[in-house]
Amino acid sequence: MTRRAITPGTFDPITNGHLDIICRAASMMDEVTVAVAKSAGKHPLFPLEERARLVRQATEHLPNVSVEAFDCLLVDFARQKDAHVIVKGLRAITDFEYEFQMNALNQQLDYNLETIFIMSPPEYMYLSSSIVRELASFGADVSQFVPPCVAKALAKV
Ligand code: COA
Repeated sequence: MTRRAITPGTFDPITNGHLDIICRAASMMDEVTVAVAKSAGKHPLFPLEERARLVRQATEHLPNVSVEAFDCLLVDFARQKDAHVIVKGLRAITDFEYEFQMNALNQQLDYNLETIFIMSPPEYMYLSSSIVRELASFGADVSQFVPPCVAKALAKV
């Protein structure tokens, strides 16, 4: 059986912390789809297609990873992709409560969908897309936190 997983997120923009989780998911699974959520309620800085393009560029070295935008329930997207696993990163204890709730909800909606959590390494524990956006808005160098294509895109905003 092909092990297919989804790594979902808003990726506004993708950071090295996200990339770490995607790489580790790719090493455990046969196929990984990075699902870039529209997340209209979050009023993202980058439009959906731009976020997906940046994720695609940042993951082009991973042969079993593909990238798709989505705007529906995650359980429905997973069904469309015939994926039975969601892989998410856990950075700090503050992530736990939200992820606990999401996991319970997704399991209620689809009992066959399993969520696996990967702990972020210490160097990415504090990293988030909003921190990166804020640093970039003040003209700080963000190249140590994000893939080069993202640093370039942020410099143009
Ligand atoms: N490294 C760095 N940052 C990380 C990270 C990691 N490994 N993991 C999470 N983050 C950060 C993100 O950068 C983001 O930071 P920000 O808020 O400062 O910008 C924050 O954690 C939240 O991440 P986000 O990508 O927005 O994901 P999420 O955990 O909020 O979930 C979906 C987004 C798409 C998975 C979720 O909203 C979803 O499933 N949506 C589809 C609709 C649905 O099914 N909803 C559930 C039922 S109502």
